[in-house]
Amino acid sequence: MVFELTEEQQAVRDAARDFAQTELLPGVVERDDAQTFPAEQVRKMGELGFMGMMVDPAYGGSGLDTISYVLAMEEISKVDASASVCMSVNNSLVCWGLEKYGSEEQKQKHLTKLASGQQIGAFCLSEPEAGSDATSQRTTAEDKGDYYLLNGTKNWITNGNSASIYLVIAQTNPELGHKGINCLIVEKGMEGFVVGKKENKMGIRGSDTHSLMFQDVKVPKANRIGEEGFGFKFAMFTLNGGRIGIAAQALGLASGALELAIGYAKERQAFGKPIAQHQAIQFKLAEMATQVEAARLLVLKAAWLKDQKKDFGSASAVAKLYASQIAQEVTSEAVQIHGGYGYVKEYHVERLMRDAKITQIYEGTSEIQKIVISRELLK
Ligand code: CAA
Repeated sequence: MVFELTEEQQAVRDAARDFAQTELLPGVVERDDAQTFPAEQVRKMGELGFMGMMVDPAYGGSGLDTISYVLAMEEISKVDASASVCMSVNNSLVCWGLEKYGSEEQKQKHLTKLASGQQIGAFCLSEPEAGSDATSQRTTAEDKGDYYLLNGTKNWITNGNSASIYLVIAQTNPELGHKGINCLIVEKGMEGFVVGKKENKMGIRGSDTHSLMFQDVKVPKANRIGEEGFGFKFAMFTLNGGRIGIAAQALGLASGALELAIGYAKERQAFGKPIAQHQAIQFKLAEMATQVEAARLLVLKAAWLKDQKKDFGSASAVAKLYASQIAQEVTSEAVQIHGGYGYVKEYHVERLMRDAKITQIYEGTSEIQKIVISRELLK
């Protein structure tokens, strides 16, 4: 077992760290406050190859491994989780699924633009009445011969307005249950497709979360991903990988908060010495560092399994479950160490604490991760 990163992986991590510090940190508080999507920063992330990191260069991607991807996700999430969720959805839920299951025509037409960052993608599974219970899709894709007639509403869609390409899960044959579900590629501008209201969120406020409405949208059959009825499996396989990205995001929020807490504890004086010299603070920092290190090992293990083409469904759920749990605890402790300063925006930790909560909710709640893990244990 080798615990060393390759030179290439270290270079990717350093480039992501540098980008986060120089391009994302300035203005992150203001973007969070005003709920501004980091459009310019995401465009630069595309130019640097962060939007299609694992995609074959033949389709405009960077051709890197999943370990490089999680290293970059951690660094970017330390600073701006609104930018990193956009990156994670585009990489894991859109590009990965298209590359693995899309037709050659779909890859040439869409993946090349998505992987190179010229366009952004969105993954549309959740509905007002189908979140965790994803098989209960109410959005319908009626088979009309050479096209599907798409009707329904999707909720809480990341990149909802900024995307150009939407992977939409919809029910075609309700009597077949999950085997009657399809995934269709919907392009912005198709007649009958409307981007709905933007959500006013507790955290990741710079990210672009919308509801979407589809009214009699004619989607060509050529836009279906995979065989008829493959849509639910497509969503499950894709989410298995997506959860590694969100686990890395949770890890980044925790490790970012730890770094800020260490820096503050060395500077802040109380009772005649830096607070880092008080054992009460040292114990907190040691506990936080242990949690971060354990989460990092789980995230890297899930990424490694995926790179080795081994089964990673349960490992990704374990990584997401644990990293999102410790992200709550570590970011909260970082606020505590900062005292009153931790509760105001300039010191960043309150934002990391607010952002951390969503990692226990999206791409499957913690309870869904426990279902995935226990099914693997009990099968
Ligand atoms: N990996 C591979 N296959 C899976 C799977 C997984 N993790 N989970 C289920 N499947 C397969 C099953 O094996 C089964 O296949 P067969 O019929 O061939 O045996 C099929 O899918 C149906 O599975 P179940 O019978 O287990 O379905 P279920 O209704 O009992 O529940 C669930 C499945 C695991 C609870 C699933 O509904 C689920 O994962 N829900 C959570 C959905 C989710 O994560 N939503 C997040 C939205 S996306 C998002 O947040 C993106 C964003 O914007 C950031």
